Amino acid sequence: MLTQVNELREYFSSRIYEAESSDELQSLKVSSLGKKGEVTALLKKLGSMPSEERKAAGECVNLLRNELEEIFETKAKQLKDKQNSMTEQRNAIDVSLPASGRYAGVFHPVVETLHEIVNIMAGVGFSVALGPEIEEDFYNFEALNIPKSHPARDMQDTFYFPADDVHPEGRLLRTHTSPVQIRSMLKYGAPIRVVCPGKVYRRDNDPTHSPMFNQLEGLLVDEDVAFADMKGCLQVLMNNFFGKSLRNRYRASYFPFTEPSMEMDVECFECSGKNPDCRICKGSGWLEVCGMGMVHPYVLRSGGVDPAKYNGFAWGMGLDRMAMLKYGINDLRLMFDGSLQDVTRGEY
Ligand code: DAH
Repeated sequence: MLTQVNELREYFSSRIYEAESSDELQSLKVSSLGKKGEVTALLKKLGSMPSEERKAAGECVNLLRNELEEIFETKAKQLKDKQNSMTEQRNAIDVSLPASGRYAGVFHPVVETLHEIVNIMAGVGFSVALGPEIEEDFYNFEALNIPKSHPARDMQDTFYFPADDVHPEGRLLRTHTSPVQIRSMLKYGAPIRVVCPGKVYRRDNDPTHSPMFNQLEGLLVDEDVAFADMKGCLQVLMNNFFGKSLRNRYRASYFPFTEPSMEMDVECFECSGKNPDCRICKGSGWLEVCGMGMVHPYVLRSGGVDPAKYNGFAWGMGLDRMAMLKYGINDLRLMFDGSLQDVTRGEY
């Protein structure tokens, strides 16, 4: 009997020690201490033993049972602890994982463009002047040398408000930022250097025209201003904006508020005319960027500035177009679309 007890002790304690799961432990418990277990079988045998041996043998088997119960308990606790720490590890935050991206918001490309141009021009002494989007006929047309019958009014299809008692002349949504030239001269006098960014409106809506778009006007009035000053000034703007020293060219044009009037093209900052398939200049090598000219004496007079003493230059550019050129955006409508994914080409 004693050998049997010892064998069972050795067998079960080492099996329990090696057990790796609580299931394994449970089946060991059944096969040792369970109803049909081997230790239980020994206990049952005690009844058939002669009484002088039964007491000592009984003590032995009971001792074994108690011992096994104790190591079962210890082992069960160990397994449970191990299980817990594994779950803990699995649930722990893995600081090495890349953070999930959060879209913090960015400036609209047009606003970005506006900030850049304003910064560049501030660097050469220009201030920012703003004017109203709901404008009077006088500032939008009349003062800029565009009288009522002037054909140039047809160049810009205008949104008009009906006349009322307060504004018997009627008002309109400004069609360009040029009226801010007049407002600025009347307010600040000469000499003056201002840039005037803002929204403008025209009755136009197709892939390359939107009824609302953004312009930036520039005006410099001083004594003895030369055409070369205008070229130099615009060159500074373009080179800084496109981040490159670019050639430019002028084409004769017509605006009622400048004389002479020009349109300026700059060399394509992307391909310099070398790529016939260039997405920016479409192979022409040139980008049309703005209308400009020497301020018409009529306009100076409208702004309360004496044309005998002062002259100057002005330019007007489409900010949306500048943004499209710089960021390679090929459809104007994306600028006003709700889908950021399209404008940023999925880059956030
Ligand atoms: N106001 C013109 C337009 O919207 C642009 C322009 C041309 C502005 C020449 C100017 C200028 O100041 O000198 O088409």
